[in-house]
Amino acid sequence: MCGIVGYIGKKNTKEILLEGLKELEYRGYDSAGIAVLSEGEFASYKAVGKLVNLEEKTKDFITDKFAVGIGHTRWATHGKPTELNAHPHLGESSYVVHNGIIENYAQLKKELQNEGITFLSQTDTEVIVHQFEKNLKKSEDAFQAFKQTISELDGAYAILLVTKAEDKKIFFAKNGSPMLVGIDTDNDKYFASSDTPLIGHCTDVNYFEDGDYGYVSADEIVIFDKNHQQVEPKFKKLSTNKLSAQKDGYRFFMEKEIYEQSHVIADTLLGRISDTEVIFEELDAKLFDGIAEIKLCACGTSYHSALTASYMFERYAKVKTSVEIASEFRYRDPMMTQDTLFVVISQSGETADTLETLKMAKAAGLKTLVICNVDNSSMVRLANTTILTRAGIEKGVASTKAFATQVTVFWMLSLYLAQLKSTLSQSAIKEQIELLRAVPSAVKVQDSMHERIKRLSKRYLHGHGFFFIGRDLFFPLALEGALKLKEISYLHAEGYPSGEMKHGPIALADPELFTIALLPKNLLYEKSKSNVEELSARDATVCAISPLEFDKADDFIQTKKHPNYMLEFFEMMVVVQLLSLEISVRLGNDVDMPRNLAKSVTVE
Ligand code: M6R
Repeated sequence: MCGIVGYIGKKNTKEILLEGLKELEYRGYDSAGIAVLSEGEFASYKAVGKLVNLEEKTKDFITDKFAVGIGHTRWATHGKPTELNAHPHLGESSYVVHNGIIENYAQLKKELQNEGITFLSQTDTEVIVHQFEKNLKKSEDAFQAFKQTISELDGAYAILLVTKAEDKKIFFAKNGSPMLVGIDTDNDKYFASSDTPLIGHCTDVNYFEDGDYGYVSADEIVIFDKNHQQVEPKFKKLSTNKLSAQKDGYRFFMEKEIYEQSHVIADTLLGRISDTEVIFEELDAKLFDGIAEIKLCACGTSYHSALTASYMFERYAKVKTSVEIASEFRYRDPMMTQDTLFVVISQSGETADTLETLKMAKAAGLKTLVICNVDNSSMVRLANTTILTRAGIEKGVASTKAFATQVTVFWMLSLYLAQLKSTLSQSAIKEQIELLRAVPSAVKVQDSMHERIKRLSKRYLHGHGFFFIGRDLFFPLALEGALKLKEISYLHAEGYPSGEMKHGPIALADPELFTIALLPKNLLYEKSKSNVEELSARDATVCAISPLEFDKADDFIQTKKHPNYMLEFFEMMVVVQLLSLEISVRLGNDVDMPRNLAKSVTVE
């Protein structure tokens, strides 16, 4: 994910671009840049890291005349987060910003290099500006050259391009990545990747369709659709409420974040899998030299994702793995041996207990790895090595998409280790990669599923407690389902291993005990089913989540018949998230900011 902005008009271009980028910073914050063309001259600034660095660099830059400007906040896909790789990218006399991926960039780059073009960055984006300038030399009409360039690109993009050849226009194209254009009361034009940067400036906005391209000038917005027919902008009134606009039409951030999981998982996979192997550019394989054990340490939801990792690391990579709750680990005088890789997991990177365990591990001389969603957070700054989860900013206090991306990273990491240690065959790795590619579609929320859960939720608003039960990897998922429900419904819920119920908790079984049973088809189905039958025989109210019909359940949520339990895991994850959400909504609770909780727990 990256964010792009653009502006054409007489107002303070620099401020408009920087303010817009601030709103989009959640989409990526490893570098940022702007390019402003005024009176035929370009000024361009770039900075690595958060936007404050760019603000600092541009503090003496004044924009008080008519100008066209473009800006970008980057989340690296091709090439490291350096200033050279930051957008906007320069040709001879044009600049481009881009969100998405140009799939045929390598081939275009090779052709351009053969023609003598020098590339400064490792990005896919830079080919756009060079290809444009190559076409411009042949066509003399900048818009025709732009149109020709767009037709030569494969992949997903939202592009803004400015050029001295037409110094009062911004060229744009959109295909697969979001972009809109807005106008203010003076008819100045603004571009952005989402509508929040435009709130407060624009009165009306046009959301581009895939395949749209064209240009804007001071007087006009010219749009062509994917069939090259000129179309009128379809303006809609822009909301003036930033908070509700940020929710993109969803009732709550949590709901939006559940729906976003498909996208953010795709982002998490991006550049990290080929057809045959898992690639972590951020990892040096030497990190695992001399390592006999992996110890994972975290709190809350991140702890649950660590538990899933322990199953995958041992199963796929045959590495001894242990998992610790950070607040316990800190004070129990743990044994820390040098042959242990110490891994902390945190959405925020600021959780005090987890941070402290990282410091302890470092002090004991252990190698450390951080799995985190927030770049530049305290944990990321402290660790030897970091893998970012790329979930984007998570606003709902109840974590959803962060968990989804953590599990995705752990799955990839277990395969990466399996490659290193040759514990899985080439063909098994290939099969697993195919499954990984299917996750974004497995977590897509189906309307019919959401509707069914909405309807069912009214039966689960009382009772003396919930048990979420599952076996193997579905046990951590049961823990996570119970935590979600507790956090936002304030109902008592426990996650339990299905096979453990008979060792005590089954004594609680009666019609007012609600059991949410995770029954995947591809993992220990018969065993889990027997455990649920024991509960239903004792009159507990059972809601089964399974692809297979189950007549002993009071309620049944049917999931898809996936070929593998990992895909079942991801779909059931969405089901338990939605169930908690809908119960909380019916109870009238504040879904996004539940009582007594905070998004980042920086106290112990
Ligand atoms: O930022 P972290 O992942 O370190 O946070 C850990 C927990 O505080 C967090 O997962 C908490 O349990 C969430 N509210 C769960 O939804």
